[in-house]
Amino acid sequence: MSSNIIVLGIESTAHTFGCGIVDEKGNILADVRGEYTPVKGGIHPREASQYFTSIAHTIIRKALSEAKVTMKNIDAIAVALGPGLGPCLRTGATIARALASYFNKPLIPVNHAVAHIEIGKLLTGAKDPLVIYVSGGNTLITAYAKGRYRIFGETLDLALGNTLDVFAREAGIAPPYIIEGYHVVDYYANKGKNILDLPYIVKGQDVSFSGLLTAALRLLREGYPLEDVCLSFRENAYNMVVEVAERGLAHTGKKEILLVGGVAASPILRSKVETMAKYYNVKVYLTPPKYSLDNGVMIAWTGLLAYKHGVTIPIDESYVKQRWRIDEVDIPWMEE
Ligand code: FE2
Repeated sequence: MSSNIIVLGIESTAHTFGCGIVDEKGNILADVRGEYTPVKGGIHPREASQYFTSIAHTIIRKALSEAKVTMKNIDAIAVALGPGLGPCLRTGATIARALASYFNKPLIPVNHAVAHIEIGKLLTGAKDPLVIYVSGGNTLITAYAKGRYRIFGETLDLALGNTLDVFAREAGIAPPYIIEGYHVVDYYANKGKNILDLPYIVKGQDVSFSGLLTAALRLLREGYPLEDVCLSFRENAYNMVVEVAERGLAHTGKKEILLVGGVAASPILRSKVETMAKYYNVKVYLTPPKYSLDNGVMIAWTGLLAYKHGVTIPIDESYVKQRWRIDEVDIPWMEE
C-alpha cells in the first residue's frame, strides 16, 4: 500500500452512474455523475444500464482528470455490487472488473447501503449513530453492533421514497418531484388543513406502505382535497418511520442519529426526527443533500475503509447481489 491510499469507486445501483476518487485522509478528489432520467414513469433498468454503458468511459476519464491522477496512482477499484437493479449493477461491475483486471488493481466489493452510511459519517462527523436511511429504494433503521450494521426496522414492501413518488405520479402532481425545495407531496401537504383517516402500519419493528398508498389514492378518487390527502398521507408515512426509529434508539442506546438517503432531505421528516431526538437528548446529523444522492464518492470511501482492513474480492467471484442486505456485511473498521 502506498503512503496515501487512493481509491476509485464506481456506483451504478439504480439511476446514477458515478465515479468518485478519494484518498485516505477523506479528501474527495473527484466526483463525477451521470443520471438516467426516464422520459415518463419509473426507472427502466435495462434502459438505464444502456445509458450507463454509453457514458461510463467519459465519466471515469473526467474523474481521473478532476483528481489530477492517472490509473497508476490508483491503489484499488471499489464497486457497489448491491443491493440494486440487476442490469444497472452488472454494468458497473463489468466496468470495475475490466479496470481492475487491465490495470492489475485489487477489486473491493462495497454494499451500497453501507456506503450511504459511511459517507454520511465522514461528512458529518457522526461516530456511532442510529441511522435512518430513507431513499427511493430503501427504508431502513440500522445501527452498528458486534461487527455489523444490524437492522432495527425496515419496510416490508415499498420504500418510503418510492411510495411518495408513486403517489405523486398517480395523483398527477409529478414530475417534477421537487417544488420550491420540497418534495411535491410535502409541498401540497403544507397547504392541507384536515387529517383524514388512513392506515398507519407498524408491525413489530417494521413498517408497511403499500396499504397506505392504495388508501390515499382511493381518497383522491373519492374527491377529497389533494392538500388534505397529501397531509394525511405524509403524516402517517413519516410518523411510522419516526416511531420505528424511536424504538431503535431506545433499544440501542445510541447517542447520535444520522439521516441518510434522498428522502432525508425532507425538512418535515427532519423536524419530526429532531423533535423525537431532543426528548432523548440525542444529536441529529444530516448528510449534505448532494451526498445523500447516489454517488461514486461514497463507494470509493467505503472501499478505502474496507481495503485498509484487507477486504478485496477475486474478479471471478465478484457477482452482483441485487438483494444484498446490510447485516450480511462485516464492518471491521468500526472496532477501532
Ligand atoms: Fe442509494
